Amino acid sequence: MKESIRSKLDSDGYVVLEDFLSEKEVDELKDEIQILIGNMPDQAQRTIFSGKEADNQQNKATYFLESADKIGYFFDAGAVGRDGGLLTRTPRASLNKIAHALHEHDPVFRRATTSERVKEAAFQLGFEEPLVVQSMYIFKNPGKDAEVKPHQDASYLYTEPVSVVGFWIALEDATIENGCLWFARGSHRSGVHRRYRRNRDPASPELLVYDSPAPVYQKSSFEPVSVTKGTCILIHGQVVHFSEANRSSRSRDAYTFHVIEGKGTTYPEDNWLQLPPNKTFLNLYKN
Ligand code: FE2
Repeated sequence: MKESIRSKLDSDGYVVLEDFLSEKEVDELKDEIQILIGNMPDQAQRTIFSGKEADNQQNKATYFLESADKIGYFFDAGAVGRDGGLLTRTPRASLNKIAHALHEHDPVFRRATTSERVKEAAFQLGFEEPLVVQSMYIFKNPGKDAEVKPHQDASYLYTEPVSVVGFWIALEDATIENGCLWFARGSHRSGVHRRYRRNRDPASPELLVYDSPAPVYQKSSFEPVSVTKGTCILIHGQVVHFSEANRSSRSRDAYTFHVIEGKGTTYPEDNWLQLPPNKTFLNLYKN
């Protein structure tokens, strides 16, 4: 009998689902993002996003916090000048990601996020009340800016008990050269190593802080997971993963969203991502 995706996720910390999206479905998402780039407001050109802690200027940016319920535009650190304007690159070649509520506010991304295939995967994973908490279109443009250091998604989307699962869908073939994901297989069995929280100290200029320094992970414990366009990788909230810089000459687009269990869990008030009081997370089984 084929191993269930739940038992595979529990044993390895990630599951590769090939042909999750058809070529046509991939193209629909890429076409839609082109439209969103065309509609980008001018002030969006001021917020950078970096997967490296030292560059975390978004800590100070309320734009980041407010993007929980919006379509926000985030740029690579090297693409934005001191005045907030874009340097030499085109908007598309400067973007790090568009996030964090594409699944709420864009009909094409909403359809992709609430498809029967996604619901079926959530059902097989055992979700009783699967809530989509965030979605991101990742550009992974060439260069070092889009490198993402080793981390666990549960550091950012914490629940008690931990329940978050990432759906990461390749919209281009993801290779070692262009920055595919690397996983430390089995690392999800070692708990949540640290949390990224809203700062309780009102006097601090840092709105968001880690509760402990970055752990040191051995590179040798990670394996690269190259996948073809349309593949979905399910990511356990505690599995440690990263992606290297993109050393190719083209972007390596991906669409990713995260699901938490709404039944019997608590969602802390100090998680970075909070919806406005009148909003609730999208329940996959009811949409
Ligand atoms: Fe991640």
